[in-house]
Amino acid sequence: MSEITLRTSTPHRRHGSNIGQPLTRRDGILKVTGAAPYAADHHPAGMLYAVMAVAGIARGRVASLDVAAAKAHPGVVDVMTPDHKPDLAMDPDEKSNPFMFRLDLLQNDKVRYPRQPIAVVIAETLEVATEGAALLAPTFEIETARVGLDGERFVPRGVGVGNPAQVSRGDVDQGLKDAAKVTEAVYETPSQYHNAMEPHAIVAEWTDSGLVIDTPSQGMAMAQARIAGLFGIAPETIHIRSPFLGGGFGSKGMISGPQVLGIMAAKLVGRPVKLVLRREQMYGPVGHRAPTRQTLRLGTDGEGRLTALDHHTLTASSTFDDFFEPASDVSHTLYAAKALATSHEAVRVDAGTPLFMRAPGEATGSIALESAVDEAAFACGMDPLEFRLKNYAEVEPISGKPFSSKALRECYAQGAERFGWSKRPLAPRSMRDEAGFLVGWGVGTATFPALMFQAQARAILKADGSGRMEIGAHDMGQGAWTALAQIAADGLGLDLDKVDFASGTSDLPDGGIAGGSAHTATAGIAIHNAGAAVIAKLADLATADERSPLFGAGNRGVIARDGRLHRRDDEARSEAYGDVLARAGLAQIEATGQAAADPATQESFAMHAHGAVFAEVKVDPDLGQIRVSRLIGAFAAGRIINPHLVRSQYYGGMIWGISFALHEKAITDRRSGRIMNGDLSEYHVPVNADVPHVEAILVEEHDPHVNALGIKGVGEIAITGSAGAIANAVWHATGTRCRRFPIGLEQLIRTA
Ligand code: MOS
Repeated sequence: MSEITLRTSTPHRRHGSNIGQPLTRRDGILKVTGAAPYAADHHPAGMLYAVMAVAGIARGRVASLDVAAAKAHPGVVDVMTPDHKPDLAMDPDEKSNPFMFRLDLLQNDKVRYPRQPIAVVIAETLEVATEGAALLAPTFEIETARVGLDGERFVPRGVGVGNPAQVSRGDVDQGLKDAAKVTEAVYETPSQYHNAMEPHAIVAEWTDSGLVIDTPSQGMAMAQARIAGLFGIAPETIHIRSPFLGGGFGSKGMISGPQVLGIMAAKLVGRPVKLVLRREQMYGPVGHRAPTRQTLRLGTDGEGRLTALDHHTLTASSTFDDFFEPASDVSHTLYAAKALATSHEAVRVDAGTPLFMRAPGEATGSIALESAVDEAAFACGMDPLEFRLKNYAEVEPISGKPFSSKALRECYAQGAERFGWSKRPLAPRSMRDEAGFLVGWGVGTATFPALMFQAQARAILKADGSGRMEIGAHDMGQGAWTALAQIAADGLGLDLDKVDFASGTSDLPDGGIAGGSAHTATAGIAIHNAGAAVIAKLADLATADERSPLFGAGNRGVIARDGRLHRRDDEARSEAYGDVLARAGLAQIEATGQAAADPATQESFAMHAHGAVFAEVKVDPDLGQIRVSRLIGAFAAGRIINPHLVRSQYYGGMIWGISFALHEKAITDRRSGRIMNGDLSEYHVPVNADVPHVEAILVEEHDPHVNALGIKGVGEIAITGSAGAIANAVWHATGTRCRRFPIGLEQLIRTA
């Protein structure tokens, strides 16, 4: 693949620094003209099409497959089944770390969840492969599917990435006994599916030197390692190209089973193969957000202070793997309860394995916690914002650690001001608009941890005065091509258009994982350090050379700006990069930089982004139909690299909050265990008509600890406050507390 050329559109940077400038996406023109290459756009010579056949049952075994009929179909090249597939070097059920998900790769005839892949038909055209897959006409031996949350409970060994399932600080039972009031309620959240616009897709080609794949990935190095293990080949012989993703949301963090099936199919037939999931096939083998039933118990004293907060989550995982939605963990961070306990239990169901999805744990837990806090505030006769301020956590409640920074108070203040919160009547069901709709106002607190993973970058300065930054980073649509290039330009002390920013392929230095809202911090710090390292080399060359105007300034006596090194003590004395390199007889110099979380900082500080979201809803008093009419969020997430893109991230999160509160829900048929709405016509996500006036306020926050640039991350936080704010607004409009999400008119029609 030739390198992708990205042009910067307006506005250009203004005053020296690229960081902080609201540049539009550098890939915007490529995207709107259709020129940005996505995985499925690739068509290597001789490529075949693979189509998966998937199980129509939730549990049992495949009794028969009419392979002969499929093979007899003109144009079908081969049919991959448990009896006919390439050998793997490793059992796909083997598991050595929390990131190694068990995959269904046709290892046997067992069916463990609906839409599990059971065969792959490989053909000359997509149409023939699709028809071939239909001709397989599988029959099944069906066992009764285990569904719902009422099965046998157990305490998982770990939740999320391996956090403890049960954590406490102080005596919650005593705190509840001491309370003047106890608010106890149970909240339910459904299974949700990621539904990225771009389905999982792969074009795989085995060549003499290894494996070349075009596939969307949020973590190319992790994918390389997994594929290497499965096929028994060296990771560096696997070349992944993933310049753009049409959304990931966590489901492209780990390589999925269907992607590996595409690689196996290419190996089986000895030709390049393309495999693209159909929309309904994304409801099964590529992860989902697990359902939860959460029990919150909040004790409050006579002044509305929390004496105890107990957050219990019951969730579900598959029968064969161990991902558990860490929904209770959000309660570790937000409110200063005297005693605090979080716990998780789980059941096994015949569903695909759940996975990280759009603030995994935080989103799910937040809607329950924020609802419960709202209920407790009302029980105390307090305004819900006043109640949150009364219980404001000055240190992280679960650990007692100070926050590296926390501008949540400013978020509350700026959001409330902008929204007009002070005019909110305390009693529910007391506002109507001119058309007679019930109007309600709700608030929710947003929070997400400021994480950082490991990454590397390589910086190059050239004698022509230009620079290059290389990092295998991932643009899932969030704008990494732009924000990271801005950091690169500042790191190199160059104009953005003088920097060749190379990204999106696995042969570049490992850019870490684009997940956990940590990509800008992770890749950005590696880039920043690589830039600093190459500038230090250049400064060495200049300051050691008596022909340079910088001679004797010493490395620290030099700053880099606009393609020149300047003496710090006399900025008029400077020299162009190209002149330094030319005199040294060098065509270019390079250096690398790393990023990794600092254990000492992690030990000393709690590091989180925060926000406050204010929602207005209107509810039809006769029909119970709900419309969000205003949504205003104020977020503090450390240094903002690109306010334009960050605002877009916040809008996206807030819209997913609308989705969580009012729309998204996968419905499982209790008898068959099958998902009944596995498509985008019946699995509802918000469309334009559902999205009202949305506003995001960027609250200033300086964090000297979190990392060298003070970046906290903005990808997931906005879903967390928004969903709860909307739920609380629905209550305020109607006086009916809905504790089952998404809230639908069926929950309001009787009482509205
Ligand atoms: Mo995200 S759920 O960390 O991709």
